[in-house]
Amino acid sequence: MKRIALVTGVAGGIGRATAHLFGEKGWHVVGIDQKPVGKIEGVSHFVTADLSHPEASEQILRELTDGERRLDALINNAGLQVCKPLTEMTLQEWDRVMAVNVRSVFLLAKYFYPLLKDRGTAIVNVSSVHAVATSVNIAAYAASKGALTALTRAMALEFSGDDIRVNAVLPGAVDTPMLRAGLNRGTSPSFDQKAHLDHLASRHPLGRVGRPEDIARAILFLADNDQSSFMTGQALVVDGGATARLSTE
Ligand code: NAI
Repeated sequence: MKRIALVTGVAGGIGRATAHLFGEKGWHVVGIDQKPVGKIEGVSHFVTADLSHPEASEQILRELTDGERRLDALINNAGLQVCKPLTEMTLQEWDRVMAVNVRSVFLLAKYFYPLLKDRGTAIVNVSSVHAVATSVNIAAYAASKGALTALTRAMALEFSGDDIRVNAVLPGAVDTPMLRAGLNRGTSPSFDQKAHLDHLASRHPLGRVGRPEDIARAILFLADNDQSSFMTGQALVVDGGATARLSTE
């Protein structure tokens, strides 16, 4: 019987790579995103849902087929980044970042818990290195990822008796639409994206920024009970060594 994974934010860079990898490994992937999209490699069933809405989890649950009413992995990957000075951020922007990046993870876990319980399953939350070190003009996002990492630990403890492992992946810079959109925060309009990407790559001990596939493999590792069976409540940093180096050097 195929293992079933639900992957949110499946139309984005890391989501697509994750669906592709899970599909290749024989998983049945239910993909979630806010806008209808064409075929995504590896996705068996696509559900359109806006995770900023509190009722999205119940809607997704209703749209599952009978065969999908057991889950082996819940991958909370959808994310929203608003890059602004704190004093210019609106209440609506702050609330939406929190709703997508943190509240939706709580609600999906709450509503999908019966499908995951007592079956050797896993929840993987895609957090960020912004949970541990951050930058200017990205406060809401950094706060949301810090909260998500703390929520990961809390969920791991609450679900440990139910045979559900919960871990987080903390990606560093990964070349996706989100990274490119956020690159020029705090810089001038004449900013050169290619030069900035090259500079960013050169600042990594491994000499490059991440690829979505680098993160997908970490997600698969944490989702797969055969590979990470003794891990729960952990934050796995996948950042090309970026956070290993003192920023003062
Ligand atoms: P992306 O922008 O390419 O993909 C994000 C996806 O989430 C998009 O398809 C978007 O439509 C979906 N999404 C956003 N709001 C939604 C909502 N309300 N309802 C349903 N879907 C929604 O970004 P990327 O880079 O693939 O990000 C995936 C995850 O990785 C995010 O949680 C992000 O915070 C995290 N991350 C990314 C890093 C990077 O450098 N790209 C670094 C660290 C973390």
